[in-house]
Amino acid sequence: MASAQTPPKFLLETAHSVETHLNDWLQSVPLPSHLHDAAHYALVQGGKRVRPALTLLCAEAVGGTQEAAMDAAVAVECIHCFSLVHDDLPALDNDTLRRGKPTLHMHAGEAMALLAGDFLLPLAFDKLTKCPLDSEQKVKLIQRLASATSEMVIGQVYDTLGGFNPALTQVECLELMHKHKTGSLITCACEMGAISGNASEKQYKAIHEFGESVGLMFQIIDDLIDNQGETDHVGKTTGKDARAGKTTYPGTIGIDASIEAVKLLQKKADAALNVLGERGETLRSFNLWMAHRTR
Ligand code: IPE
Ligand code: IPE
Ligand code: MG
Ligand code: MG
Ligand code: MG
Repeated sequence: MASAQTPPKFLLETAHSVETHLNDWLQSVPLPSHLHDAAHYALVQGGKRVRPALTLLCAEAVGGTQEAAMDAAVAVECIHCFSLVHDDLPALDNDTLRRGKPTLHMHAGEAMALLAGDFLLPLAFDKLTKCPLDSEQKVKLIQRLASATSEMVIGQVYDTLGGFNPALTQVECLELMHKHKTGSLITCACEMGAISGNASEKQYKAIHEFGESVGLMFQIIDDLIDNQGETDHVGKTTGKDARAGKTTYPGTIGIDASIEAVKLLQKKADAALNVLGERGETLRSFNLWMAHRTR
């Protein structure tokens, strides 16, 4: 079983194979060299690769193969990396450190960061059009990733510019924002694995429920890490959310209640996996690590 804090071996292995695919793919796209460097900086260097790992593991959990799900895994990571580049821009979070290195706009300038992010967005969909699955699966993957990307952007709008329905409570707003800005893409990563693995309806539902729980859990932990982690360990400037006046779980409901929320979501995600039987075991141990990660 995975220990709580060391990344499990399968995550390190999938991270490595996803990185190799990302690199080979990017090499094959003809680009001006400075745009190529920026895309490479954003896409290939660093990152835990949680979303593509979820895609690959969810494909296996429904009886499919990692091979059939690799293009979907790479596409979802591409959208994630684009979201990080734009998230760090001065107009959004104005961050200078990402994955232990200067953020892309610090490295290559704001115009390039904006444009490299723009470039990664359609590239992800282009990847899906070329994946070796049947047309029906491809359309489902493209639709799923398109709606999750829109939801991520909506979440970023809530985070940066507000605009919540005034009838919602503060906690409802927080949950809505987190489910959109982070949960959606993580749920989508899981579902894209299920689609690639030709899941039955029952399996798809289980993967969807698992993805929803781990998606929200992921951002609550991200908030806790910002609140409690050390910059050197995390690879991002910590303590930044409170200084920037961000709405976060620890800031809104407190640290203890945030940890309780994580525990509940971890349990809920585990329960969703029951339907998958033994095949759900790797996802279960991944869930354990995700619930205890410190970076
Ligand atoms: C950070 O995501 C941004 C969020 C949506 C919380 P990750 O923690 O997965 O970042 P990387 O990809 O490992 O750098
Ligand atoms: C990120 O949320 C959400 C995205 C869609 C990128 P954060 O702004 O909390 O992510 P970090 O902490 O900068 O990685
Ligand atoms: Mg942000
Ligand atoms: Mg940020
Ligand atoms: Mg954060």
